[in-house]
Amino acid sequence: MIALGCDHGGYALMETVKKYLEERELEYKDFGTFSEDSVDYPVFAKKVAAAVQSGECEKGILICGTGIGITITANRYKGIRAANCTDSYMAYLTRQHNDANILGLGGRTVGPGTALDIVKTFLDTPFSGEERHARRIRMIDED
Ligand code: RB5
Repeated sequence: MIALGCDHGGYALMETVKKYLEERELEYKDFGTFSEDSVDYPVFAKKVAAAVQSGECEKGILICGTGIGITITANRYKGIRAANCTDSYMAYLTRQHNDANILGLGGRTVGPGTALDIVKTFLDTPFSGEERHARRIRMIDED
């Protein structure tokens, strides 16, 4: 299950992402927002981060205007590794090296074709499992 969340700046792109997930028959839980009316991105970032943190959803996709505010918010949750990606190479490496569990996208900064390329790469790339990367990920949550 993939948790989805966006604000008004990400709403249009999220509609495109949802269509793509439906074509691939991938299940998602949509935490909103559900229109282009102005809303506060932390509300939706928190819902998605909590769903991934609890294990209710394996991964999440968050979209705001830039992908920045929504990703900053999600990363306040322990165990959440949210990566704001602007190309598929970043998505590939953040899965391989960081085992990122939430993808951040900017509805005003990446076009739909690039965004879907990023989503595909994020969903289809496994964590490398290499010890040096696993060790660094463990270090993120150490005091
Ligand atoms: C909303 O106007 C905008 O600030 C938001 O979508 C996002 O880009 C914040 O980081």
